[in-house]
Amino acid sequence: MSSQKQESVRRLAAPDITGRKGGDPIVCLTAYDAPTAALLDDHCDLLLVGDSVGMVVHGLPNTVGVTLEMMILHGQAVMRGSRRAMVVVDMPFGSYEGGKELAYENCARVMKETGAQAVKLESGPTVPETIAYLVQRGIPVMGHVGLRPQAVLTEGAFKAKGRNDEERLRVIAEAEATADAGAFAIVVEGTAEPVAREITAVIDKPTIGIGASAACDGQILVTPDMLGLFDWTPKFVRRYADQRTEINDAVARYAADVKARRFPAEVETYFSKKPVES
Ligand code: KIV
Repeated sequence: MSSQKQESVRRLAAPDITGRKGGDPIVCLTAYDAPTAALLDDHCDLLLVGDSVGMVVHGLPNTVGVTLEMMILHGQAVMRGSRRAMVVVDMPFGSYEGGKELAYENCARVMKETGAQAVKLESGPTVPETIAYLVQRGIPVMGHVGLRPQAVLTEGAFKAKGRNDEERLRVIAEAEATADAGAFAIVVEGTAEPVAREITAVIDKPTIGIGASAACDGQILVTPDMLGLFDWTPKFVRRYADQRTEINDAVARYAADVKARRFPAEVETYFSKKPVES
């Protein structure tokens, strides 16, 4: 493709996603590296550089250990690999909860160093105030309510939300506060269908569901989960590929070829150039 054609592709931005409220479903996936982002870009409206990178790429037990530097490095890679999809970078645990000024400093750094179009913050009770502060200062923010993976240490486990009345009211109130604060869209994770449906009906921003039913305005999955890279996935994941088996089979065949000296063959080998006859 010529560089002229590349330049003519316009990247989607926060207003494009907000404008899809109640319209065609918004297609989102997580991405962490350039070649995968390039493959996803043709199919997705939004690529999230999720802090799930800590678990699915770096082998951490949860997202708490993810650093700002990790998010910036993966954000830069996803920006290099994609051209059209909006890229949103997750703010990691400890980078925004300590105060509005700290949050602004860290979010501005992520925006400048990655070139991404927005950041995502998990919206606990105190966070909407920070979201309003960031949005007023030019940083587009995506919210995240329901199951909040960064709260795993206080909650003890990843548990679906909104299955009793108290939780239902709490999750809806957090979603409303996040939308009122100016978030351009809200991820609703691990939330019972009636609650996700109610949130989608009462807020004027698109809801992006993950384990939150078909009632949301869009859907997101963790890409290695939907590609079948792991032997266990949560109930809400649909596997569209079986990468675990494919990689295992490919590597087993490679190992057998190396051991049997079938690899490399002549076609995969460099030879000396023939001397030029005088
Ligand atoms: O980190 C992540 O991948 C996320 C998605 C689960 C929405 O936040």
